[in-house]
Amino acid sequence: MNDLEQLVQGAVVEFDAAPSPAELENAKARYLGRSGRVTELLKGLAALDAQAKKARGAEINQAKARIEAALNASRERLAEAELASQLQAEALDVTLPGRRRGTGGLHPVSRTIERIEAIFASMGFDVAEGPEIETDWMSFTALNNPENHPARSMQDTFYVDVKDSEGRWLNLRPHTSPMQVRYARAHAAKYAGAATMPEIRVVAPGRTYRVDSDATHSPMFHQCEGLWIGENVSFKDLKFVFIEFIRQFFETDDFDARFRPSFFPFTEPSAEIDIAFRSGPLAGRWLEVAGSGQVHPNVVRNYGLDPERHIGFAFGMGPDRLAMLRYGVSDLRQFFEGDLRFLTQFK
Ligand code: PHE
Repeated sequence: MNDLEQLVQGAVVEFDAAPSPAELENAKARYLGRSGRVTELLKGLAALDAQAKKARGAEINQAKARIEAALNASRERLAEAELASQLQAEALDVTLPGRRRGTGGLHPVSRTIERIEAIFASMGFDVAEGPEIETDWMSFTALNNPENHPARSMQDTFYVDVKDSEGRWLNLRPHTSPMQVRYARAHAAKYAGAATMPEIRVVAPGRTYRVDSDATHSPMFHQCEGLWIGENVSFKDLKFVFIEFIRQFFETDDFDARFRPSFFPFTEPSAEIDIAFRSGPLAGRWLEVAGSGQVHPNVVRNYGLDPERHIGFAFGMGPDRLAMLRYGVSDLRQFFEGDLRFLTQFK
């Protein structure tokens, strides 16, 4: 094997062994670079005479061409290897199921509240919302529940570390009943001085708060207040409206309702409303769904109205309870834990 043949084979071995493009380029420099071995050989031609130069030059150029061919072959090999590894790294498994865009859904309690609103709207009730942080007057005093009266302890109220303009602690409203006062006062003010006043008919759903927590009580829960004030709105109307609501809400006539005597400072007489389904898993069990009564004259006065002329009823019901009954949920707290495994069942 002559020296040129050895040179070519050495180059082929080195190029083949190069593990990366950078190392291949280093190997190339050793042969074809400015002081590479081929270049040195070509420089050596200067010392030969014309004839020998021609013959030797041709041989060297041939060897050089073979080295360049080997270089190109190795470059291709490395490029292919790189492509193959890239393809493997970014491989797509086209047999995997596609990722769907998640669709949201209304929370079961929100659905229940919308349902309540729609049923009462169909009976001519307005829908109103009010603040969750209330003054002492709105939550209690205006509702015939004076300071230091024992009835205040019926509600385990959360207080806010801020005082209102009368120097009393603000509270997280323990019921939606302040909305009776807010809505009726705005209504009375709007028609002050007018010859006649349209009836007040409103439902006011929203969040309410009490220091209470077990399977059927959450410190944050919902209520929906109802109020109907006219010139001659009586307990009979309360019974009709509420039973009609229950019929529509549960889409059944197959239940009994009872108005159980009770006490609220803001109504007289007062009643808890219980229902019992006649069939199904809850058949025969009385379930409390609302507090209610004819609005107390003192409260009508605080609406800015004359109790000799304007009378009617109010009720406060628990949408959370209604949602539990409608969907068969046994622990109220599940509604507020934000567990998607629970919530997505209602989509
Ligand atoms: N506010 C009462 C409660 O939270 C319910 C109620 C509302 C009772 C309206 C009578 C009239 O228990």
